[in-house]
Amino acid sequence: MENLTIIEKLKSGSVPEKQELAQLLETITDSEREALKEAAQKKAQSIFSNKVYIRGLIEISSYCKNDCLYCGLRRSNKNAVRYRLSKEQILSCCENGHRLGFRTFVLQGGEDAYYSDDVMCDIVSTIRQKYPDCAITLSLGERGYQSFKRLYDAGADRYLLRHETANALHYSKLHPKSMSLETRKSSLFALKEIGYQTGAGFMVGSPWQTYETLAEDLLFIKELQPQMCGIGPFIPHKDTPFFDKPSGTLKMTLVLLSIIRLLHPHVLLPATTALGTIHPKGRELGILHGANVVMPNLSPAEHRKDYSLYDNKICTGDEAAECIRCLSGRMKLIGYEIVTDRGDYK
Ligand code: 5AD
Ligand code: FES
Repeated sequence: MENLTIIEKLKSGSVPEKQELAQLLETITDSEREALKEAAQKKAQSIFSNKVYIRGLIEISSYCKNDCLYCGLRRSNKNAVRYRLSKEQILSCCENGHRLGFRTFVLQGGEDAYYSDDVMCDIVSTIRQKYPDCAITLSLGERGYQSFKRLYDAGADRYLLRHETANALHYSKLHPKSMSLETRKSSLFALKEIGYQTGAGFMVGSPWQTYETLAEDLLFIKELQPQMCGIGPFIPHKDTPFFDKPSGTLKMTLVLLSIIRLLHPHVLLPATTALGTIHPKGRELGILHGANVVMPNLSPAEHRKDYSLYDNKICTGDEAAECIRCLSGRMKLIGYEIVTDRGDYK
């Protein structure tokens, strides 16, 4: 089938076959890329107009018990500087964020046993009480059904847990033996069942990724129907086994953002920090290719550089207020507007 026919299929809301998606990714030409971008941008504007939602990212811990081969926070990385934020520090990030117009707080961290259910539920319920108008998003890895449920009951609304790759063999090459795609998938289905707005997602250009595994990622998104989907380029970190692997590309990330917008139109789709890291206009281009969310950093400035998932991460030297001013300006220049809104899935 012709690539343009596959793009038409996506535009009309039907789901291409795996082989068709893999072919499109492998052989897409510049003019087809333009058609895809056009369609994805139109689709996003028909749903969100020119509005971009913001999420305040609070990186609560750089400790992690896992050992994912791509991630700078992996426990084997002896060079990583570890920190964790206290409840008071997290609350002060929220206070700062709320004043700046954030109505979603994303508490993200490595899998750190310090944040037991008791500790985490206390933090979540305090934020819930103080900021009844805000959404609370958690991104704390795999915690098991009961833990997810307790945090939901304490007031969390959303949970981000990227599936990383929907191909089991590929998953096993990116993760230690203790982790499995099966567990990751069942965590995602559990989160949805509990009632979270759930986010999946994957890295683009991770080692051993192929056009086929990417097609599987797209079909998994279609199957799970997550409310959110985080995708960004893989970027090597110097202190990981993948230190010499090449980064994912801007072009491929943009194509995937557009395909996801067409496959699953209402999904909340961030133009990620990783995308902004591999290209100075990465986030703007992400929005123009169908993304509708940006996630400025609200973490305390003194710890920013230590939440080091990959090398050369942007915005590690700026105050939150600076990031929001910068991003507002960037969005305005491309005709979009950042809004103060919880930005729930509709
Ligand atoms: N490059 C890009 N993204 C990464 N992540 C972790 N390590 C890297 C890296 N080296 C992403 C993973 C994880 C999210 C928090 O950050 O997809 O789910
Ligand atoms: Fe952080 Fe531009 S968004 S400085």
